[in-house]
Amino acid sequence: MDKLSIEGGIPLNGEVAISGAKNAVLPILAASLLLDAPLTVKNVPHLHDVTTMVNLLSHIGATVHLSDRADVIIDPRTIKNLVAPYELVKTMRASIVVLGPLLARYGRATVSLPGGCAIGSRPVDIHLKGLQAMGATIDVEGGNIVAHALNGLVGTHFVCELVTVTGTANLMMAATLARGTTVIKNAAREPEVVDLANCLNKMGAKISGMGTPTITIEGVTNLSGGEHQVISDRIEAGTFLVAAAVTGGKIKVKRVDVDALDVVIAKLQEAGMLIELHQDAITIDATGRRPLPVDIKTAPHPGFPTDMQAQFMVVNCLSSGVGTMIETIFENRFMHVPELQRMGADIRIEGHTAVCHGVEHLMGAPVMATDLRASASLVLAGLAAEGKTLIDRIYHIDRGYECLEEKFGMLGARIQRVR
Ligand code: UD1
Repeated sequence: MDKLSIEGGIPLNGEVAISGAKNAVLPILAASLLLDAPLTVKNVPHLHDVTTMVNLLSHIGATVHLSDRADVIIDPRTIKNLVAPYELVKTMRASIVVLGPLLARYGRATVSLPGGCAIGSRPVDIHLKGLQAMGATIDVEGGNIVAHALNGLVGTHFVCELVTVTGTANLMMAATLARGTTVIKNAAREPEVVDLANCLNKMGAKISGMGTPTITIEGVTNLSGGEHQVISDRIEAGTFLVAAAVTGGKIKVKRVDVDALDVVIAKLQEAGMLIELHQDAITIDATGRRPLPVDIKTAPHPGFPTDMQAQFMVVNCLSSGVGTMIETIFENRFMHVPELQRMGADIRIEGHTAVCHGVEHLMGAPVMATDLRASASLVLAGLAAEGKTLIDRIYHIDRGYECLEEKFGMLGARIQRVR
């Protein structure tokens, strides 16, 4: 199994271009199932999760091509098998986003029930309740969600009990082909949901209110094909910004949506970093600076993203004081803590709160990646630490970071993949 070997302690310097957003591209690829003609998706990151979604779409019968410019073209006209099997869903929970489109377009679907995952139980009850409110019948048989809407879905008013990102995506996609108008309240406001809505509107959907807590979807009878360019990955961008902060470097992060990073930028400034904003780039200068501690509480967008919590913990671990981090979205998202402790971090967990006492240096150590963003935090800690860090189980990183070691290598990091 591949590992990442990092010789830390080098301030990172240079420029890095950010790839397309994982959490935007996955539902957008699934949205092709709603269409009557091919969808061309541009700025697709080369990630394991994208491969899994492409395999799932192929399994369903869609024809998937890669153009010579690395655009992904999905032709839904060959669909014949309305099933998302366990083998694919278990490796990627986001596979659940094929449920809404299949049900809306073909009147039935069988999607394996995603199990728990490392960061918590993550149920899909809100996805199912929303589809039922649109008239679907849903049974769980043999670990599968078996959904029917043979006479089509109907528009409804639905309030999400909790803000759910893929739940909002699933219901919004389903509603595009429902009869009548659907209103989703307490909807996710994440930029990735907005990107999906923009893509669907280009194909003829009538969605408004995306980016606000109330999304309105006027159903249409059919959606055409077309082309869409995926937004850039704000979590990847945030990870590189933190890399500069924890190594005392200076990095220009290019091809970013600056607005989508508001809260992350504010926290980096609070940590004492010099930030310069450009039209679609951000420069962070941490030269000669030790981070100040910051208090963080994760929340749905526009709050502090849970997907940046682990990375920011490294900032607090190296800070000149005590920073408190409260995780409100997932029940078990501190699995990076014991690994960071192996590297000399001083962190105490109290329920959903991690209290980090800053230390002057982290020390390289063999550590284990446990989930995608936890793995990113170990890479950051390894880049900042003195000596060698060996990160095992890096397949988690490959799920969500494109060319991670190449990009860090170009910034001067000594990082390599080893067996
Ligand atoms: C998405 C992101 C993930 C991010 C997360 C929170 C994708 C592919 N993944 O995951 O990177 O960490 O948002 O920003 O976009 N919940 C329920 N019932 C449901 C649905 C969710 O109880 O039916 C709970 C979850 O267990 C969790 C919370 O709601 O505690 C938020 O989860 P959700 O927003 O659905 O996360 P994902 O969409 O799976």
